Amino acid sequence: MPALVLLGAQWGDEGKGKATDLLGGSVDYVVRYQGGNNAGHTVVVGDQKYALHLLPSGILSPGCTPVIGNGVVVDPSVLLSELSGLQERGVDTSKLLVSGNAHLITPYHATLDKTTERFLGKRRIGTTGRGIGPSYADKINRVGIRVQDLFDESILLQKVEAALDFKNQVLAKLYNRRAISPQQAAEELLGYAEQLKGFVADTTLILNDAIDEGKVVLFEGGQGTLLDVDHGTYPFVTSSNPTAGGACTGAGVGPTKINRVIGILKAYTTRVGAGPFPTELFDDDGEALRRIGGEFGVTTGRNRRCGWFDAVIARYATRVNGLTDFFLTKLDVLTGWEQIPVCVAYEIDGERTTELPYNQSDFHHAQPVYEYLPGWSEDITKAKTFGDLPKNAQAYVKTLEEMSGAPISAIGVGPGRDETIEINSFL
Ligand code: GDP
Ligand code: IMO
Ligand code: MG
Repeated sequence: MPALVLLGAQWGDEGKGKATDLLGGSVDYVVRYQGGNNAGHTVVVGDQKYALHLLPSGILSPGCTPVIGNGVVVDPSVLLSELSGLQERGVDTSKLLVSGNAHLITPYHATLDKTTERFLGKRRIGTTGRGIGPSYADKINRVGIRVQDLFDESILLQKVEAALDFKNQVLAKLYNRRAISPQQAAEELLGYAEQLKGFVADTTLILNDAIDEGKVVLFEGGQGTLLDVDHGTYPFVTSSNPTAGGACTGAGVGPTKINRVIGILKAYTTRVGAGPFPTELFDDDGEALRRIGGEFGVTTGRNRRCGWFDAVIARYATRVNGLTDFFLTKLDVLTGWEQIPVCVAYEIDGERTTELPYNQSDFHHAQPVYEYLPGWSEDITKAKTFGDLPKNAQAYVKTLEEMSGAPISAIGVGPGRDETIEINSFL
């Protein structure tokens, strides 16, 4: 089983960090292929809790080589501080590899991200303010700065000048902000070069060779399917492709080399930031899910919006990612409800549909159609096998599986590594 993709099947925060970490001990490489430090992946190892933003969760597994692929946008200051934070806690970070083709997030990207959001007013996306969108915009506009540019001072300055030419006009004339000095911006970036140099590599070559040699490579997605710039709830999305195809472009590995695509699926739904969310709850149940599930953002600390499980979305994730498996997380959070609503279809302007509407306005109008499944009250956090779960919890999982279109191969019953029920092995 040389190459697997592990990605979010909903709107992010499904528990990708925990799932990646769980497999990390058995894989040779863990690769981030898109996004940047907008991600917040929590990993709990024993009594230690780690919040990773840019580094792949595999960095916590000693035998595993963590890789930042070409599709990621890298804020060098965040990368260095995340590395030093882990080093202080005794984590070996020396194996990290960073693609020389990955684009950089510079301070002017974060400035533009925040300024644009302010100017959008009530139409804002609710971004993480980390400069993700502006950095990817520069990449597509062909005025981005790449990791390799840090090692050629004169090219770097020329590229920064080109990137700031237009932006400074916008900042000064439209947003009434001070223009950014290209010299200063380039100098700041150059200040990171020496510390990063040792990590930079031709990651595409290394990963393809590794797969050909039968090594196990795991691609760890950031964000989630419904935040994908092509397949998500545009424009309320992130600026990259968290879906499975993103692993190919974001790491330089062909689709024929990928054997398995695992969708991480929360037993209910959450979303951070603006945008449609048909099963969102505004009542005590929503508050209870937030409290019991600890649904507060790892990156921005914002309250996550909470709602019931949405099978329309899960089926859509199976379709656009070609999922082979699901990893169902946070089933323990649902303990204690007498009955649990599950969205099986939408009603849009009086018409019922079981498919995700491709039309934005239709999705904004979608009303959830619920089926009610019986709940359970027994503590399930110590369950080790599917048979250990109460009958109603088993039935909940089986029903979700039938509705979602791919086998549920693992179930999370707590945040820790060992709080997992493995049904089918991933490797
Ligand atoms: P990610 O962005 O997909 O990695 O997810 P986050 O780390 O942002 O949010 C998931 C949260 O749920 C984290 O606090 C995890 O420690 C926690 N978590 C993951 N799996 C489970 C589970 O099965 N049960 C419980 N109770 N918590 C979990
Ligand atoms: P992980 O990897 C949840 C959301 C933001 C906003 C939108 C665009 O932890 O699942 P951006 O800063 O990317 O331009 O913001 O995407 N968002 C996330 N939501 N989990 C994430 O990452 C997210 N990363 C971005 O809240 O709505
Ligand atoms: Mg997260």
